[in-house]
Amino acid sequence: MFNFSYQNPTRIVFGDGQISQLGKLIPAGSKVLLTYGGGSIKQNGVYQQVIDALKGHSYVEFSGIEPNPSYETLSKAVALVKAEKIDFILAVGGGSVVDGSKYIAAAALLEQDGWAILENKVRIKAALPLGCVLTLPATGTESNANAVITRQSTQQKLAFSHPSVYPLFAVLDPKVTYSLPAKQISNGVVDAFVHVMEQYLTYPVNAAVQDRFAESLLQVLIEEGPKALNEPENYDIRANVMWAATMALNGLIGVGVPQDWATHGLGHQLTALYGLDHAQTLAIVLPALMQQQRATKREKLLQYASRVWGLQQQDPERQIDEVISHTRAFFEQMGVPTRLTAYGLPASSVDELMTKVMDQGMDKLGEHGDIDYSASRAIFTAAV
Ligand code: NZQ
Ligand code: ZN
Repeated sequence: MFNFSYQNPTRIVFGDGQISQLGKLIPAGSKVLLTYGGGSIKQNGVYQQVIDALKGHSYVEFSGIEPNPSYETLSKAVALVKAEKIDFILAVGGGSVVDGSKYIAAAALLEQDGWAILENKVRIKAALPLGCVLTLPATGTESNANAVITRQSTQQKLAFSHPSVYPLFAVLDPKVTYSLPAKQISNGVVDAFVHVMEQYLTYPVNAAVQDRFAESLLQVLIEEGPKALNEPENYDIRANVMWAATMALNGLIGVGVPQDWATHGLGHQLTALYGLDHAQTLAIVLPALMQQQRATKREKLLQYASRVWGLQQQDPERQIDEVISHTRAFFEQMGVPTRLTAYGLPASSVDELMTKVMDQGMDKLGEHGDIDYSASRAIFTAAV
């Protein structure tokens, strides 16, 4: 196991009715910016619960943060924060609203334009404190330090990470997920699954705790994901999916182990160019990447096959073939297609995607830095 230092400062407040705790969780005397998306929270009653809980706090609203939150929209919120002298941000929504709010929190304390954060041209020193009410289990953003922001004018989708944007708290009430369209539950389960895989499917370093934790999260998602689609109002199923998604990317299973993240890096290009949902891009890339990297990932692929899927073939190569098929079939079972063509993208899109990959100098992806341009091309080509 590698050396590591681990701290996750986010307080998780989990369960039915817990939005009512907001009044106590937000520091007294704060001037709050309440951020949300396109209005789902007004239809499912979450907005009213939040407003009731905010009695006694002074707040301003900013709505309209879109899926794959855009720099263009968020810049308006940054201006509002500065003009209104906001000192706390409460994000209510899915990963896009929370990520967008992290960007607002960091950009509001900069003198220059916030896009410099995404281009690594400025070092963040501090951010406004933020908390969140998560309405879509998927990204893990509710208790991590990451955010992914899209600049529409240049079709760039970039990420940043800084400890100052860990949410102070995250309220997770599984009941607020009942109103999610099936597609978003599918997306969430696939995203969480791939987060585990990015931190698990690399090479062994004798990290027994991280491996067994990761394997149990994968098994929970495989078991509960389809049930979450079939029984949308089963509290226990939604609770298990929600907690699994948080645990998948709160840093715990990633400490002391190599990490990959090539599936995400390549997937972001599909969103930037064609607007595909984040999880759709992962379902396309991961099975092709497992195939391309089967030699360097061999030991972990075999461990994954036997421990997660119970595949006990005599021939290791066949075992790997089978576990790649099982992974693909799971995404398809969740209703997320795994081929570019299933989204109407022809073989010629591989060239467009590679131009994007090369523009960003992404020539050393993966846990060994061995996914160069030709390997990325092979992955996209295998995904057609
Ligand atoms: O905007 P509203 O009206 O709220 O509707 C949203 C949106 O249309 C809707 N929704 C959310 N909660 C709902 C609901 N509809 C009904 N009932 C509810 N309870 O769902 C739609 C999608 O929401 P979005 O926030 O975009 O989805 P998700 O949580 O999957 O977030 C995706 C974003 O997170 C980034 C992705 O790249 C993408 O931009 N990621 C962030 C990560 C992180 N910060 O660590 C890691 C991930 O790998 C990922 O990259
Ligand atoms: Zn993801």
